[in-house]
Amino acid sequence: MPDKPSQTLSVAPLEAPFGVRVGNLDLRGNINERLIENLADLLYRHRILVINNQSLDHAQYYHFGQQWGRLIRHVLDYLRVPGYPEMMAIGNTQEKDRDAATRNGAVHWHTDGSYKIEPTTVTMLYARVVPKLGGETLFNDMVAAYQTLQPRQQRLAESRTAKHFFGAAKLAPGEYPVTPIKTDKQAKAVPPVVKPLVMRHPITGHKALYGLGQSPFQVNELPQAEGDTYLGELKAHATQPQFVYRHRYALGDIVLFDCLSTMHSGTPIDFAQSTDAANARLLWRLSTEGFPTRISRRLG
Ligand SMILES: [Fe+2]
Repeated sequence: MPDKPSQTLSVAPLEAPFGVRVGNLDLRGNINERLIENLADLLYRHRILVINNQSLDHAQYYHFGQQWGRLIRHVLDYLRVPGYPEMMAIGNTQEKDRDAATRNGAVHWHTDGSYKIEPTTVTMLYARVVPKLGGETLFNDMVAAYQTLQPRQQRLAESRTAKHFFGAAKLAPGEYPVTPIKTDKQAKAVPPVVKPLVMRHPITGHKALYGLGQSPFQVNELPQAEGDTYLGELKAHATQPQFVYRHRYALGDIVLFDCLSTMHSGTPIDFAQSTDAANARLLWRLSTEGFPTRISRRLG
């Protein structure tokens, strides 16, 4: 891809313990490798990157998503956007969203793709319809969560691993169950995997807690009950208010988050009777494995 001079980005911190907001950027026709590298560096440094005020159609958004790595087809194939199998429609405006288990199926702390061997690196949510109130997404900082553990607890976490399966983790009070796997074919596509509880970020070198919700169902080094308690305690630590940012969507926001150093949770929403309804929300989701081209080159 040929380089054009990068646009001058306006970058400001979020009103939050972490994350940045980028303005003065129109992604229509202005995407090149240097821009994506600049955005990726911001993302990896700050964990969350909000790009305001975008007007992209499916194809333009898909093209933007492709720059961040290999787009993933989610195991829940019934959430896919027709014509774009890697894109998912998240919200409360579609027929599938009448089912509360679908609509609120991400209302629990989780890491996208924690149940797969190849980790999901980035997820992006593009706000196409926003409610007057509600429908926010919560994000936490798993680097800060790791860094605030006592050294002994850090070493303990680093020495432990968890078995993961889609939707198999215990829920904390107030959390909703995961949008369910419905077929054997879907279940077979995501066999159980083992993941460390602490990961070093391949770009920043920071250590972070990893994958504490949705999928971890057993700590390999502990008896079941003790492991359940341990996972619950780590998750409770990592999701304390001082580590959490609540994003309220404005129309046109693209929120990107580093899945190797954050978790996130939806918030409950009712079904919207029409897309004009005050509580209607529609997000287009894309997720990637791997890294943008220039970042991969740096990794060698
Ligand atoms: Fe998610």
